[in-house]
Amino acid sequence: MNLFNVYPLYDIEPVKALGSTLWDKNGQEYLDLYGGHAVISVGHSHPYYVRKVGNQLKNLAFYSNSVKIPLQEELADKLGKISGLKDYSLFLTNSGAESNENALKLASFHNGRKKIIAFTKGFHGRTSAAVAVTDNPSIKAPLNFADHVQFLPFNDVEAVKKAVDNETCAVIVEGIQGVGGIQVATDEFLKAIRTACNKTGAIFIHDSVQCGYGRSGKFFSFQHSKVKPDIISMAKGMGNGFPIGGILISPIFEAKFGLLGTTFGGNHLACAAANAVLDIIRKEKLVQNAETLGNYLFEELGKFKGIKELRGQGLMIGIELDYSVKELRETLLFKHHQFTGVAGSNTIRLLPSLALKQSEADRFLEVFSQYVK
Ligand SMILES: Cc1ncc(COP(=O)(O)O)c(C=O)c1O
Repeated sequence: MNLFNVYPLYDIEPVKALGSTLWDKNGQEYLDLYGGHAVISVGHSHPYYVRKVGNQLKNLAFYSNSVKIPLQEELADKLGKISGLKDYSLFLTNSGAESNENALKLASFHNGRKKIIAFTKGFHGRTSAAVAVTDNPSIKAPLNFADHVQFLPFNDVEAVKKAVDNETCAVIVEGIQGVGGIQVATDEFLKAIRTACNKTGAIFIHDSVQCGYGRSGKFFSFQHSKVKPDIISMAKGMGNGFPIGGILISPIFEAKFGLLGTTFGGNHLACAAANAVLDIIRKEKLVQNAETLGNYLFEELGKFKGIKELRGQGLMIGIELDYSVKELRETLLFKHHQFTGVAGSNTIRLLPSLALKQSEADRFLEVFSQYVK
């Protein structure tokens, strides 16, 4: 049987990893500055994480959401403490798209409306409601195009003031657009969304799938702007590679049996992984490390005259050049064995583990400086 051929692949086969290092099947070492699309948060195969997930696997890998799973409460407790959002509730899913799907659905259940405001270049996933609010027609099937979704220019305060009205169900926005090219939402923009939602009863959904979980140098990127969304979606770094996602739900929402549900979401193994990730983030002060090393990289990259624009926060960094970065990225990968990402055609995207070391950041800067002055 063939694989359904939807992914263009690099001819590299990683077989082992530790921290920010990967090894391929030939023993070649790579520096991972991309974490497989922002997924590796605490570092590949962190020994504590491996022990916790391994022990859980030996005891019980899965049972459904029809029994008590204290690991879920442990996760909610840890999330409340680390995010400061102790009065929010947690619903667990398996991916970023599924988190946004449930966020949108919950908003619509809550106010009975269906008009959604989303933003240009936004990416929220590939399931039905999530892809409908994603600004990329090429990944929407005919059944995904929805009349009730309106796209506004990202960071346009006036457009938000005008468009959000008493029929608006929700406004969904990424704190820092990832796929859209590392575009940071301004404080004024997020505050305008909060104000418009307060006025109209619309729900403010903050997609923190890529920019959340400490990556921006705060646990959630909106905490730089001091706004509080009604629903926060998460995934990616949450399980350090084990599939898990979730939404944090403000106290304005009332739960009722059957309102949301999933077979796999919140299973024992996923929660063991997510609990280990939060323990490591806390013990190793990784949110602080993301801030410190992010600042360091911004300062150093800021010295390159050849960079057209440098964007991002913490360890979510977009380096825009005024030409296609395809060749540079391939040179970094095949000649210097460094994984980076891309957004659009001209932007290199760095999404390393939050445990990145300064010596590793320096290795990137040294190689990068050979090509961009
Ligand atoms: C901001 C954002 N939201 C949602 C998603 C979808 O997540 P997943 O691929 O886990 O469904 C992504 C994935 O890249 C993302 O970057």
